[in-house]
Amino acid sequence: MESNVRPEMERITTQALAEKFIEEKIGELRAQIGSKKVLLALSGGVDSSVVAALLIKAVGQQLVCVHVNHGLLRKGEPEQVIEVFRNQMNANLVYVDAVDRFLNKLSGVAEPEKKRKIIGAEFIRVFEEEARKQDGIEFLAQGTIYPDILESDGVKAHHNVGGLPDDLKFELVEPLKFLFKDEVRVVGKALGLPDNMVYRQPFPGPGLGVRCLGAITRDRLEAVRESDAILREEFAKNGLEGKVWQYFTAVPDFRSVGVKDGKRTFAYPVIIRAVNTTDAMTATVENVPFDLLQHITARITSEVENVNRVMFDLTPKPCATIEWE
Ligand code: XMP
Repeated sequence: MESNVRPEMERITTQALAEKFIEEKIGELRAQIGSKKVLLALSGGVDSSVVAALLIKAVGQQLVCVHVNHGLLRKGEPEQVIEVFRNQMNANLVYVDAVDRFLNKLSGVAEPEKKRKIIGAEFIRVFEEEARKQDGIEFLAQGTIYPDILESDGVKAHHNVGGLPDDLKFELVEPLKFLFKDEVRVVGKALGLPDNMVYRQPFPGPGLGVRCLGAITRDRLEAVRESDAILREEFAKNGLEGKVWQYFTAVPDFRSVGVKDGKRTFAYPVIIRAVNTTDAMTATVENVPFDLLQHITARITSEVENVNRVMFDLTPKPCATIEWE
């Protein structure tokens, strides 16, 4: 059993150090994998993307990436995974459109922990089905990083692949397991991944399913996705991307009366959250310029269907959490 303690190593802070790490890892990965096949659940998050890019360099087509679109990803994410990995890096990528499947399973389920469990369990099932379609897989790659080992039992819980059945217990390949997040980003940059993939803000495993409060409906899910895209676009345009630690929108499961074009509306509110933190254990609220908030409000209420109000969450953590769930 390989040790789970980070060996003596220089912290990877520069491109040159990242390149040295990449070269060494490529050698190790080739030695470990040989001519066998490796399976990877590629969410498009930082860690799985860096693992994919590294393995593509090391073993090319022997890597089979499975991207499961569960319908709870942010706007443009599945498209970017296909563009970067299949089109640009020529990866062996299986894209699974499981949107209806997940949303049907989640239909009518309002309790946050139940929603998380359903999303996790369904993810394993979809991934298992894809694994069974592949011949000759002997390894399972995971984007485990050092904080995952320090904070849990070493299984990347939000990747949800810890629960594969016994006959699919492949040997693990975890090339980033001794790296901290900032080091993973430097390695990702050196591997040529786009900045918006490498410097992306934290995103929960159950994705927008967390931020679509109560029982998920397609109209509110679209309202979360579209309003989040507008918020991200405006933060990027106004110099807040990379400055604010995490920002997103949430949509509660109630409607209220509004008025548009002289007519009464009965629609959902959108809540904007923008926070700063170092460790996500406590967080303060970003002082977003009021005129920017008003501009974002105008865009969301005119461009996003089924929305007639926008709120800004002023609550630090504690006593709120960062997510709305
Ligand atoms: P809370 O809401 O507990 O969130 O204050 C703290 C941080 O954790 C992120 N988060 C997750 N990250 N898988 C993840 O990788 C998850 O299931 C998950 N749930 C919450 C949240 O976005 C925030 O940054």
